[in-house]
Amino acid sequence: SALRGLLARMPKAELHIHIEGSLEPELIFALAERNGVTLPYAGVEALRAAYAFTDLQSFLDIYYAGASVLLQEQDFYDMAWAYFEKAAQDHVVHAELFFDPQTHTARGVSVGTVIQGLSRACTDAQQRLGVSASLILCFLRHLSEDDALSTLEDALPWRDHFIGVGLDSSERGHPPSKFARVFARCGELGLHRVAHAGEEGPPAYVEEALDLLHVERIDHGVRSIESPALMQRLARERVPLTVCPLSNVKLCVVPDLTAHPLPQLLTAGLAVTINSDDPAYFGGYLNDNFLALFAAQPQWGAREAYELARNSLAASFAPPQQRAVWQ
Ligand code: ADE
Ligand code: ZN
Repeated sequence: SALRGLLARMPKAELHIHIEGSLEPELIFALAERNGVTLPYAGVEALRAAYAFTDLQSFLDIYYAGASVLLQEQDFYDMAWAYFEKAAQDHVVHAELFFDPQTHTARGVSVGTVIQGLSRACTDAQQRLGVSASLILCFLRHLSEDDALSTLEDALPWRDHFIGVGLDSSERGHPPSKFARVFARCGELGLHRVAHAGEEGPPAYVEEALDLLHVERIDHGVRSIESPALMQRLARERVPLTVCPLSNVKLCVVPDLTAHPLPQLLTAGLAVTINSDDPAYFGGYLNDNFLALFAAQPQWGAREAYELARNSLAASFAPPQQRAVWQ
C-alpha cells in the first residue's frame, strides 16, 4: 500500500541499536569459524531456535554468548558494515550505535580494537552509503561503577570516536543512581548521556536517569505509562524516548503490539521514536518495526508516520550542519 511505501522510504534516524544485537546467526558462525571459537550450538538453525525469550535476562545470556565470536578489529567492522547495509535499505539517514566495550574487554579484547573497527565502519557508511553514523559507549549496569569508570578511562584515547555514553544490560536491581559518579564525569568530558530506563524497571528509574544521570534521552521508557506525573514531565520537557516495539514483545515487556503503549505516549505529547534495539534477535530491522506497529494501529496514516520520522531526526545528536541536510 501507499502507507507501507511511505514508511519504508521516508528518511529516518535510528537512535537505539546495540550493534552486538545486529549480529545475525550466519555471521556469528562465520566469525566463530574464522576465529576458532566453539559455540554451544550445533549451527545456525539451533542458535535461532534458542531465540525464545521470557524476559530481558533470558535474552542477555544468549546475546553475550553470541558476542563471544568478536575478537579482531575486522570482526567489529564486518558486524557494523552488515548493519549499515540493512540501515541504508531501510532509508536510515543517520544512526547512533550503542556498543558494549565491557562485553569484549572481559575476553581480553582491547577497547581500541572495538572502537577502531566500529569507527572505520561508521566512516565508510557515510562515504559509501550516505548514512551518517556515530557511536555511543554503553556501560553494563550489572557490573560495578568502578568497572564503568575504568572502562571510560581506557576509552579516553579514542574520545573523538564516540559522541556519548549509555547504560544497558540487566535493569532490575541496578538503578541509575548506581552510576551517578561516572555519568557526572562523562558530563565534564562533554559526552552526550542516555540511559535505558523503564524497560523492565519502574518509572522511578526513569526519574533517576533524568535527575541523577542528567540524560538527554531515555531508552525504552515504556513503563512511564504507569505514572501520570512522569508522563506530564516527559511531555513538558520533550524528553525523547527511544522505543523498540518488536523488542518489547519478544522480551515480554508487553503481551503484543496491539497492547503496546507507544500510541498513548505519542498522543500524550511525548517525543517518541521507533527503533530496533537488537534486530538480529527480535525479528526485524527498523522498517520491520514501523510496519508491524502500524499494522497494529489501523487508524494511523501519513501524519503519524511523518511525526515519528521527524521525532527521530530531531532527537538525534547530529550536528546542525548535518540536520540542515535533512530539512
Ligand atoms: N542490551 C542489549 N539490548 C538490551 C536491552 N533491550 N535492554 C538492556 N540491555 C540491552
Ligand atoms: Zn536497548
